[in-house]
Amino acid sequence: MTTHRTALQNGWAFLLPLLFIGCAEGGSTGGQAREVNVYSHRHYDTDRALFDAFTQATGITVNLVLADDNEVLARLEREGERSPCDLLITSDAGRLGQARLRGLLRPVRSALLDSVVPAPLRDPEGHWYGLTMRARVLAYNKTRVRPEELPTYQVLTEPRWKGRLLARSAENLYNQSLMAAFVAHYGSDSALAWARGVAANFARDPKGSDTDQLLAVAEGLGDVAIANSYYIGKLMSGTEPERAKARDVLAVALPRMGGAGTHVNVSGAGVVKHARHEAEAIALLEYLLGAEAQRAFAEGNKEYPVRRGVAVDPVLASFGALDPDTLDLAQLGLNNATAVKLLQAAGWR
Ligand SMILES: [Fe+2]
Repeated sequence: MTTHRTALQNGWAFLLPLLFIGCAEGGSTGGQAREVNVYSHRHYDTDRALFDAFTQATGITVNLVLADDNEVLARLEREGERSPCDLLITSDAGRLGQARLRGLLRPVRSALLDSVVPAPLRDPEGHWYGLTMRARVLAYNKTRVRPEELPTYQVLTEPRWKGRLLARSAENLYNQSLMAAFVAHYGSDSALAWARGVAANFARDPKGSDTDQLLAVAEGLGDVAIANSYYIGKLMSGTEPERAKARDVLAVALPRMGGAGTHVNVSGAGVVKHARHEAEAIALLEYLLGAEAQRAFAEGNKEYPVRRGVAVDPVLASFGALDPDTLDLAQLGLNNATAVKLLQAAGWR
């Protein structure tokens, strides 16, 4: 049973009834169907199944708009008070931080959310909460690289990696957030020098997705790819014959950021400033952080659970024990603009 609708299926036509419902509810005395309107750029089957399960458990309908990550904040700004959106879900803490800085989110209080989500993985005032964690790690060709050669991100600037590194473009948020973490830990000068050193070692100009970098390693185009853990987990647990070579060739290193742990990021969500269904939005957040939903994210999408006590998927566990950097992820949003400028200056296209 599908209880949510998507913008891709319905276009924008459904927003009109939503606006109408929103107005009608202003003067209602209850008794109407409860709902929550979500803008998300997570396009995974796990999320759809969880929204359906939430509706079954609570009777609250989830109206889902699959939004383009690069323009979702501009859309919220454009829509202003007229926006039907209650809950913004993104796959990057930097984006959530920017949403907060641009005044698009509201602080919410939930003792449950505060107790389940570790402090570094949520906004200190409740503007957003991490739902799942991912690490930005190194996938390497195990016939050409030894894992002890990749203890840190910093070693990637060494001359021996010349012509051997693969990464997607600097327009990508995950790279911007990795760079923002460098800025937070070591300052702009060191971050710039690092990015310059990495860009100088690229096997080719950045292009494609994280998964494309993994496949490029398998094709011998380079030896080390920077990629998010779940893309590697999905590739390694897949069965597509055309990716069998990648599964044979790749292994994973969990590099440290100097003295700090491995760079992590979150998919997370925040209640939108003009939300009309705050209680329903919080209920959905709480549901997504429940043990059952956290297990579904872990198994279905190969993400690290945010909630303690939920097991990491065996494929991810096989990469080694993750020691995440404990940097407050709010820093990723605060440093995003600097990170973008520095990546450009470094020649990371
Ligand atoms: Fe992603």
